[in-house]
Amino acid sequence: MMNAPSQSLSRRSFLGAAGVSATVLAPGRAKGLTGSEIEARAAGREVAEFGISMWDLDTPALLVDLDALDANIATMARTTAANGIAPRPHAKTHKCPAIARLQLEAGALGISVAKVSEAQALFDHGIDRLLLTTSNVTPFKIRRAMGLAKQCPGFIQTTDTEANARALSEAAVAAGIDADVTVDVDPGGHRTGITPGEPALRLAQLVDQLPGLTLRGILCYDGGSQHVKGFEKRKAQTLGRLAAAADTCERMRASGLDTGIFSGGGTGSYNIDHETPGFTDVQCGSYVFMDAQYLEIGGATDPDVYTDFQPSLTILATVLNAQYEGRATTDAGAKACTINRPWAIVKGESGMSYTSGSDEFGTIRYEDPSRVYKVGDKLELIVSHCDPVVNLYDRMYAVRGGLVEAVWPIAARGMSA
Ligand SMILES: Cc1ncc(COP(=O)(O)O)c(C=O)c1O
Repeated sequence: MMNAPSQSLSRRSFLGAAGVSATVLAPGRAKGLTGSEIEARAAGREVAEFGISMWDLDTPALLVDLDALDANIATMARTTAANGIAPRPHAKTHKCPAIARLQLEAGALGISVAKVSEAQALFDHGIDRLLLTTSNVTPFKIRRAMGLAKQCPGFIQTTDTEANARALSEAAVAAGIDADVTVDVDPGGHRTGITPGEPALRLAQLVDQLPGLTLRGILCYDGGSQHVKGFEKRKAQTLGRLAAAADTCERMRASGLDTGIFSGGGTGSYNIDHETPGFTDVQCGSYVFMDAQYLEIGGATDPDVYTDFQPSLTILATVLNAQYEGRATTDAGAKACTINRPWAIVKGESGMSYTSGSDEFGTIRYEDPSRVYKVGDKLELIVSHCDPVVNLYDRMYAVRGGLVEAVWPIAARGMSA
């Protein structure tokens, strides 16, 4: 994938500044340590004490750069606080209790989750302020969610139909609890949520009245606006599509209903959503890691590259074949990178593109390359789309200055039910 010259220049300089070039840190020999070998060596001691270079890891491996991760969490905390709202970061992105803890320590109101199994996995690892942003429609899932609500008073669910609200009420009464519930309002994309205005207001009134349920407010996540290219265009669309939910929220407030939560938004709109009256918190997910999809959308300060957050998540890959002109083959294909577009980006390098269409193999194609790889060389890839990539790995290596500081289990990996 080639960019227009001005785009590729500014994107390259940003990526160069954000990342450490592979040539600087590449070790003389690769020890090829797996996650379990590192855990066995550490045997209760801090992994950081061993001074393991990330370049010695077996590949493909998922890495998170702690300096970039910390900076992203701090930027989100600072910006939302300045705008009078707060983050409620979405764990669908990282699925990792260690990162959820960092987000909560930085002032997040709670952690958003996409599935009840994801919520349970995080709760089992000590995260106890959870907002489930997807409604449950089957009796089994509703029972499961009420079971979690019984263990975790900080668990909030959502609903988008009257029939579903009645089912939640029956299950809550059967479980002997009062369950916190929000009303999911459709921003116009028709993916989930009830129509704003009268239908949403009626549903909120019903939730408020049903036994076993406590109304906490509304959700309105506008996925269709997050990747709109260009800040002003994204802002106009986001605010335009949140207006009906804001009106609903105001009508709820005026009729005495709880509007303590008006949650939505994401990485693309985190510095826009607060302009909507009544809005309380942003369910930002990708900002912790960033990815090639988000880098393309442009921000308030740079129209070509979204520089608000740094790419912290990379895949470490090894070159398997370098004997053919103009290309090299790596061990990171679709099973390590997914086949999302735009393709992954070779970090810290320029004049080359990457594709991961084959199951087990990735392909580097040279155009005007900043370097050429040999067999056995390792390289880092900025991921295409962070959420599905994380879901391919059991653990991520937390790295600072090129050294492995911790191995973090991706505890909710595969929790898609
Ligand atoms: C309901 C909901 N909220 C928040 C997010 C987070 O979005 P992002 O990763 O763009 O920050 C998503 C992502 O798909 C989502 O589905």
